[in-house]
Amino acid sequence: MAFGKASVTDADVGGKRVLVRVDFNVPLDGDQVTDDTRIRAALPTIEYLTGAGAKVILCSHLGRPKGQVVPEMSLAPAGRRLAELTGKPVAIATDVAGEDSRTKAEALEPGQILLLENTRYESGETENSPDLAADLADLAEVYVNDAFGAAHRAHASTAGVAEILPAYAGLLLEKEVENLTSVAASPTRPLVVVLGGSKVSDKVGVIDRFLEVADQILIGGAMCFPFYKAEGHSIGHSLCQDDDIPLAREALAKAAAGSCDLVLPTDLALGREFSAGTETMASGSVDVPDGWMGLDIGPESARDYATRIKSAGTVLWNGPMGAFELDPFAAGTRTVAEAVASAPGFTLVGGGDSVAALVKFGLTDDVDWVSTGGGASLELLEGKPLPGVTALNDN
Ligand code: 3PG
Repeated sequence: MAFGKASVTDADVGGKRVLVRVDFNVPLDGDQVTDDTRIRAALPTIEYLTGAGAKVILCSHLGRPKGQVVPEMSLAPAGRRLAELTGKPVAIATDVAGEDSRTKAEALEPGQILLLENTRYESGETENSPDLAADLADLAEVYVNDAFGAAHRAHASTAGVAEILPAYAGLLLEKEVENLTSVAASPTRPLVVVLGGSKVSDKVGVIDRFLEVADQILIGGAMCFPFYKAEGHSIGHSLCQDDDIPLAREALAKAAAGSCDLVLPTDLALGREFSAGTETMASGSVDVPDGWMGLDIGPESARDYATRIKSAGTVLWNGPMGAFELDPFAAGTRTVAEAVASAPGFTLVGGGDSVAALVKFGLTDDVDWVSTGGGASLELLEGKPLPGVTALNDN
């Protein structure tokens, strides 16, 4: 495999109990899964294993219950959704690696599926406790990590257990790592990186890396304001973290000294406050008057960004251009999303908010790769090793 780790397809799994770490950290409304993207994304590995006669034991976290049993964070709704998607029964254990899990794991027949309870019901999960890792390992003979979204966590179910059992990459994890790695390592040029969201500090590692690798970085969202402030513009009461201003200044200096264009919007959509019903104003400049805040990039910038995106050989998009959840401020994000969806180059979108924007505008299927990872995709793009990947067997 391209990143040097053993694949599930290399493993001898027939008739064996295989512990599969998935990322079923899905949004719930009561006991209903409201977005099953992550469950669907794990289906190729699950179906590969059941088809190969493995006894499949799935585990995942959901939310952050901090070592407590929080019934609202049970994985049971995800298990029911998985049963609907696979058309197979999914047994659900009432604990993580305790008596019920052991009994149900031992009763599995080849091709059957068991889902353990939320790994974060055990405090040992986030502490990467050797005891919990050993209990999880005792359930199975082989370990597969397909939880790309949690691969940046060194937890018992993502890293600890992989030190004990023979550990393989799942099919989703492989594709995520290959696609995200190739953007920085071997992009078709020009490589255009579109970054939005609210804080520079969330993306500073990605900005830093891609200032060395990309041809253009296009900035949108409230992340613009530390840059404008660093350039001496007035920003009204737009969102701006003071700590972000020196980071923005450093990025501007690095861009000026390098060959990557760091592009900021030239116009903005303003509102009096963060609400759909607020008074709005188009601003042909980036100076925000007192009493106003910037809530979206303006139409001129959106058109310019769309042109750059459509001329790219590779596009990476992470973070919305504005408050797209408020209709008056959705246009910039929509224009960027449509440009990414229709761009002829290789297009990759990561980060929960930009993925939510694609879903809102019905464009998800028009992008080449939509990452299931938020923090994990950013860390990989920054060039950091992911503990959940590092722990897997080399091939
Ligand atoms: C995510 O939703 O990004 C992953 O499931 C990781 O969740 P976490 O940030 O709670 O570790």
